[in-house]
Amino acid sequence: MLLTSYRLGNLTLPNRLVMAPMTRARAVDGSPVAETATYYAQRATAGLIVTEGVHPNAVGQAGPFMPGIHNASQVEAWRVVTDAVHANGGRIFAQLMHGGRIGHPDVAGHHPVAPSAIAARTEVFTAAGVVPAPVPRALSLNEVRDQAQAFGDAARYAVEAGFDGVELHGANGYLIQQFLSSNANQRTDGYGGSISGRIRFAVEAVEAAVDAIGAERVGIRLSPGGEVQDIVEGEMPELYGELLKALPDMAYIHVLATTDDEMLMGLRKAWPSAFILNPGGQIGPHESTREQGERWLANGADLISYGRAYLGNPDLVERFRLGLPLVGTDRDTWFQTPRGYVDYPTYQH
Ligand SMILES: Cc1cc2nc3c(=O)[nH]c(=O)nc-3n(C[C@H](O)[C@H](O)[C@H](O)COP(=O)(O)O)c2cc1C
Repeated sequence: MLLTSYRLGNLTLPNRLVMAPMTRARAVDGSPVAETATYYAQRATAGLIVTEGVHPNAVGQAGPFMPGIHNASQVEAWRVVTDAVHANGGRIFAQLMHGGRIGHPDVAGHHPVAPSAIAARTEVFTAAGVVPAPVPRALSLNEVRDQAQAFGDAARYAVEAGFDGVELHGANGYLIQQFLSSNANQRTDGYGGSISGRIRFAVEAVEAAVDAIGAERVGIRLSPGGEVQDIVEGEMPELYGELLKALPDMAYIHVLATTDDEMLMGLRKAWPSAFILNPGGQIGPHESTREQGERWLANGADLISYGRAYLGNPDLVERFRLGLPLVGTDRDTWFQTPRGYVDYPTYQH
């Protein structure tokens, strides 16, 4: 099944493998570099590539050496990347990731903003190393709307840069999931409290992107029940049930296996369009396998995303097709290093 084609929005994917979004922290001045184009182009046989997290505005930058998509020079730099992927026959969505309270003034010169002034009990990256997450500034009501609109503006920039679409990062404890949560979000206005309040930011951010570039070019990533970066989500599974009902029609939801299979299957059944499943969850102990992918396709998922397997195996599709062994990845080269980025060879080499 993994190697059969699939129609996603306006795109025909030649196979069901999605390269999962992975931050690689190699940007310079907020823009991707020449190697970034090579890196993604090497992986263009994936049915779909979702880029590393890309901040939709300056205050949304979560860590050092991460790229953004909110000005003309970034659009120009991303154009080189999307051209390289398309030249190799691929398809690529940008992951729009707003860090919210996961960020630091030393990273982008802005104090992090969040639903409430509550620090995550976790560490964040700065160029000088890891430090405790600072207490963020709570967004005013008007500012919440501006931050939701930032996803629409960034989506427009992304299409201008040649992306086939965008995925909003609603997972892993960043801004959108902070609104969904019952600990990071202590708001007493219409964006907090009840389930309908907590899901509102996610829905408005998606609507802003859909209005900007069209429903068939928008997806969202979710980690139901996921607890990384100090997230607690009360009222599960109702929270995600209501969220799926409130989201507009769009290309896909991309769900991490951060909860039990029963709930994942429930979400699959409740969602009318494409369902991408990431078996490995939030960097779980084992990377997603081919067998897990086939099992989830049999369970009703449409597409399977692979993270770590894609780092070391740019030709993952061909390796699956030919039953070739996979190369493991070296954690020390996940971020920043010159090594471990474009130097993983294809099997033929
Ligand atoms: C180096 C690295 C960076 C990651 N960065 C992101 C990111 O920017 N956005 C995101 O949604 N997930 C990110 N993830 C999570 C992956 O997309 C994926 O969910 C996780 O690695 C589990 O899948 P796997 O077992 O196939 O690797 C990252 C994972 C790794 C290993």
